[in-house]
Amino acid sequence: MRGPPACPIVTIDGPSGSGKGTISRALARKLGWHLLDSGALYRLVAIAGVDAGAAADDEGAHAALARRMDAVFSVAPDGSECVTLGGRDVTGRIRSEEAGQGASRVAAWPAVREALLARQRAFAAPPGLVADGRDMGTVVFPGAELKVFLTATPQERALRRHKQLKDKGSDVSLPALSREIAERDLRDQTREVAPLKAAPDAHLIDSTGLSVEAVVQRVLDLGAARSLWP
Ligand code: DC
Repeated sequence: MRGPPACPIVTIDGPSGSGKGTISRALARKLGWHLLDSGALYRLVAIAGVDAGAAADDEGAHAALARRMDAVFSVAPDGSECVTLGGRDVTGRIRSEEAGQGASRVAAWPAVREALLARQRAFAAPPGLVADGRDMGTVVFPGAELKVFLTATPQERALRRHKQLKDKGSDVSLPALSREIAERDLRDQTREVAPLKAAPDAHLIDSTGLSVEAVVQRVLDLGAARSLWP
């Protein structure tokens, strides 16, 4: 009989505002596992492109930046995330709607997705990895031990994003945000390479009206049923 894998992987995929980030972070902290926020990598490629003066439609230049950018993820003593690009702090910048829109654009390019594959897979290390994104269970970690696809109604997702941005001091109108989320969903779902969709073996969780704790508990129950943790 095989024992538990040395580096079990849990993938959490879903659209913007479905709560993936919050759930993945809470789960990784609870388990003491590594965390891959793959959306942050796409956001960094968009930012690197702007900073390097790359033409907005230059796929090759963005793929080259995806391969060589010097991105460091760390956790500050107060538990908050810190991200640097080429040594410069971009923690606030990567969470802006502008970076999100830029990420969705560069994420549609096959060369950029290919360039980020090895970087993403390198996050897998014992004792385990929680991978958050759109194609974690379908493309990056197809052999993951547990796959979750998280959804929520578009209204709830827009409200959550609005609150998140407001808490960070950003003043974005809710109707504008709803429109942007709908545009981003459409682009993410209809792109030719690695579109946003649930893996056939993913567990669907609709987080509408559920607390963070309730969703985390559902994932913990699923993993326990597979003996991934006690
Ligand atoms: O999860 P996020 O909002 O940080 O992601 C930003 C964009 O990056 C999103 O619109 C789609 C893209 N993305 C992707 O295509 N594949 C991933 N694994 C993660 C994000």
